[in-house]
Amino acid sequence: MENALKDDYKSLTLAKIKKLKHGGFGRTSIKCMYADLGFEIILLTSDCAKSQELMELLGRWRKENEAWYLSQFPVSIRRTTRWFVDKLIEVPDRMLFIIKISGKYVGHVGLFGFDFDKRTCEIDNILRGEKDFPGIMGCAVRGMMDWGGRNLKLRGYSLKVLSDNLRAVRFYQKLGYQETSRIPLIQVNGRDGLEWAQAPQDYEGKAARYYVVMESV
Ligand SMILES: CC(C)(COP(=O)(O)OP(=O)(O)OC[C@H]1O[C@@H](n2cnc3c(N)ncnc32)[C@H](O)[C@@H]1OP(=O)(O)O)[C@@H](O)C(=O)NCCC(=O)NCCS
Repeated sequence: MENALKDDYKSLTLAKIKKLKHGGFGRTSIKCMYADLGFEIILLTSDCAKSQELMELLGRWRKENEAWYLSQFPVSIRRTTRWFVDKLIEVPDRMLFIIKISGKYVGHVGLFGFDFDKRTCEIDNILRGEKDFPGIMGCAVRGMMDWGGRNLKLRGYSLKVLSDNLRAVRFYQKLGYQETSRIPLIQVNGRDGLEWAQAPQDYEGKAARYYVVMESV
């Protein structure tokens, strides 16, 4: 009985996410507040792949912040679009919202990696693309978490952040996240040069870099 309920939750949630991601850009928009100013976080949908402006923007932001990702590579519109379709739209439990305030896109926030049994999810791809509106990133993450609680019945969130990304660690602590574990990382040869990957278990304590796992409390 309990397992049947869990299966129901999983299939209903995935069906809902799929419908939203194919529903057209602008249809899923979460209203948030930044001090006294309203702003929105808008779900990126399959039709966005046709927008050169959006693909260019996502590519530029990715390049400018590449130090905080596991891999670095030459960014192009073609590559960003392929990532957008294959690694975001086609991945059933992944969503990305773009932050729009006063007519301008300033960053994005996302959800990825649901634990359907626990009804939790990781917050993913949190990125400030433009410098304006200090404090808006925290408002956007909170807005997305509230939305996930109301609309996807999520009960909690976790995340992974690189151990040397001290600004981001502090940002998440201010949002109420606490470290629960560390995953050692190791450099390996990737398609575009060295990239970071999960290290073998016995690497614990020897790693130069870790993924810090944090959970909302
Ligand atoms: C992590 C990241 C999203 C944090 O963004 P941020 O700009 O620090 O977050 P906020 O917009 O919430 O701004 C917070 C700052 O604004 C300040 N602030 C909040 N409200 C404010 C307001 N109304 N007016 C002025 N300042 C304000 C806060 O005090 C805080 O300042 P501090 O950093 O000196 O403590 C950003 O650094 C980033 O995109 N980094 C690169 C990508 C990355 O590492 N992502 C995380 C991967 S896990």
